[in-house]
Amino acid sequence: MAAVSKKQRDMKNIVLTGFMGSGKTAVGRELSHLLGWKIIDVDEEIVKAQDTSIGELFRKLGESVFRDLETEMIRKVSRNRNVIISTGGGAVLREENMNILRENGTIVCLWASVDTVFKRTSCNDERPLLQVENPRQRIEELLECRRPFYEKADMVVDTEEKTPLHIAEEIIKRMG
Ligand code: S3P
Repeated sequence: MAAVSKKQRDMKNIVLTGFMGSGKTAVGRELSHLLGWKIIDVDEEIVKAQDTSIGELFRKLGESVFRDLETEMIRKVSRNRNVIISTGGGAVLREENMNILRENGTIVCLWASVDTVFKRTSCNDERPLLQVENPRQRIEELLECRRPFYEKADMVVDTEEKTPLHIAEEIIKRMG
């Protein structure tokens, strides 16, 4: 890893947004290696704090309680500096979340096609919103409806045909 430059020290947090399966975790790891910054995954922090899985939270408390926990956790993790914050795919839906994250961070959205998301998410059953009879159709509908929210990011990065390392390098370059 190259020595941490003044530019890196002066950079805001990098906030990764994007649909489920858009590569936030993998790209976050690469950014963490390249910058020497810690990565904070909002969902993982909620799971630790609540001592249960996201699936269980949805089942027992419902999506709206999960969304409140998500906002609470976003508020907490946003106080950090020089970190990468990886958010859940629905975090963009609340303007409050984005306002909090933007205070100390640059919002980066990873964009992936319906086919890519479907491929990446079909091998596990951890995502409550995709536990439906036709997950591909659900992805299509959700992605279309969330598109305007994802597009509000400071930087939208197309992830198709790119490795997580290339995407991370592109993000750092584009941070200017
Ligand atoms: C969600 C995405 C998930 C998780 C929850 C809801 C969403 O995170 O927060 O299942 O609404 O898109 P990932 O994007 O990390 O899968």
